Amino acid sequence: MIEDETAFSYTHRHLLGIEGLSPPEITALLDQSEGYVEQNRQADKKQGVLRGRTIINLFFEASTRTRTSFELAGKRLGGDVINMSVSNSSVKKGETLIDTAMTLNAMHPDVLVVRHPASGAVKLLSEKVNCAVINAGDGSHEHPTQALLDALTIRRRRGELSGLTVAICGDVQHSRVARSNIHLLNTMGARVRVIAPRTLIPAEAARLGVEVFHDMDRGLEGCDIVMMLRLQTERMHSNFFPSIREYFHFFALDYDNLAKAKPDALIMHPGPMNRGVEIDSEVADDYGRSVIREQVEMGVAVRMACLELLSRNLSNDISRNL
Ligand code: NCD
Repeated sequence: MIEDETAFSYTHRHLLGIEGLSPPEITALLDQSEGYVEQNRQADKKQGVLRGRTIINLFFEASTRTRTSFELAGKRLGGDVINMSVSNSSVKKGETLIDTAMTLNAMHPDVLVVRHPASGAVKLLSEKVNCAVINAGDGSHEHPTQALLDALTIRRRRGELSGLTVAICGDVQHSRVARSNIHLLNTMGARVRVIAPRTLIPAEAARLGVEVFHDMDRGLEGCDIVMMLRLQTERMHSNFFPSIREYFHFFALDYDNLAKAKPDALIMHPGPMNRGVEIDSEVADDYGRSVIREQVEMGVAVRMACLELLSRNLSNDISRNL
């Protein structure tokens, strides 16, 4: 008999993106994560479900929250976790990426957690290895575990995602967090708005099924959730806005424009946050409404669930060793 049915409804080998996942698959990942939240609050946080498993964190880009939480998640489940930080400057895409993947693959890891500055690079790598691969962020494409942790944070506060109005504000153009969140929220029946200067709205916005606003006051009107984004200057190859001062004036979240949202609207940010650029410092620290720290807490639980489910799927996959 299957002891936990939800745990078996995410049956893919990898977690490369949210696009294409079904509501039951997303719900399965969230339900499994939920179970780890309480465990992480206990003094003894250790379990043995990943005993004997090897997880390699392969990060070709900077990270604080994502890398640390994957490491904690793997260790709390009893796995062996190796961190490989690859300096961006010396790494070329294509051949070198595949060579790295093949080298690591030869060491028989069970899960590779990969972050890379090029969109699509993590999928490419996943095609070359016979372990499970988790996308920890590929360029401006997807960051699935971030969207899952955001969804878990919202679900715990609001009960469900369906019917909520969520405003994603700021540099949507360069944000993998925005793309993964848009896919997840749309799939789960939330309404998504994006608010940004015209230059920071992706060309495919209409296809993504979002409502586009260029004015904070109008876009935030009646919202349940306000999700702020960092200006991803590392991905900008020209000037997308006149100055930080002007951007702050028109597009930062402050108490004036927040007043347009619902009185109990939650404030979210994936981090790292640039105070005084996309968010007013006081609003960020408004712990009645800002759930930014809770998002970080949920991140560990979500990554535990992903590692556990993918490892379980791998054990059931006889083709792996052929
Ligand atoms: C985000 C990322 O790396 O995409 N950060 C994160 O994972 N918490 C967002 C960002 O860098 O602004």
